[in-house]
Amino acid sequence: MDKNEYTSHIEKVLISEDEIKQAVAKAGKMIDDICDGRPVRLVSILKGAFIFLADLCRAVSVPCEIGFMAASSYYSGTESTGKVDITLDLSQDISKYHVIIVEDIIDTGRTLKDISDMLRKRSPLSLRIITLLDKPSRRTVDIKADYSLFTIPDVFVVGYGLDCGEYYRSLPYIAVYRE
Ligand code: IMP
Ligand code: MG
Repeated sequence: MDKNEYTSHIEKVLISEDEIKQAVAKAGKMIDDICDGRPVRLVSILKGAFIFLADLCRAVSVPCEIGFMAASSYYSGTESTGKVDITLDLSQDISKYHVIIVEDIIDTGRTLKDISDMLRKRSPLSLRIITLLDKPSRRTVDIKADYSLFTIPDVFVVGYGLDCGEYYRSLPYIAVYRE
């Protein structure tokens, strides 16, 4: 795809770089407050949450460790296939840790439900969920984030880590994608 085609799919900016920055700073303080000086393990779900995690962990001042998991639910295009595969698991034991799952977006909720059920079985000291974006109107399973930075309508978005066919992750803002 060339540059013209690339930009032609950006309908409009939904959440600006500045709005994201402010919300991430606030989320970092909230994590500091709930951890109250104790270390936290931030578990990020690849790939969509990688930029959010990178900014969020630098907004936190309690001792913080990073872990990665990967799951695929969208294989291409903008519709969920409904099937969640855990393609990468944590390399660390979480049983003695306060864990926060860092997610890019909760759509149907299936990915997060599978991952949080799986991690809860490993008996972490506590397990919370923080998501950059929430699309509550699309939920098909019963799951809620403990903290959500932005609630958005039922539109397909890209940028700040979120992709369409692997493109647009590097945009510094969240934009509505046009087919
Ligand atoms: P869920 O399992 O349906 O909640 O889907 C979660 C995953 O689907 C997210 O982690 C994203 O990777 C992807 N996804 C859902 N909605 C969007 C969107 O609007 N843009 C880009 N990716 C999305
Ligand atoms: Mg994702």
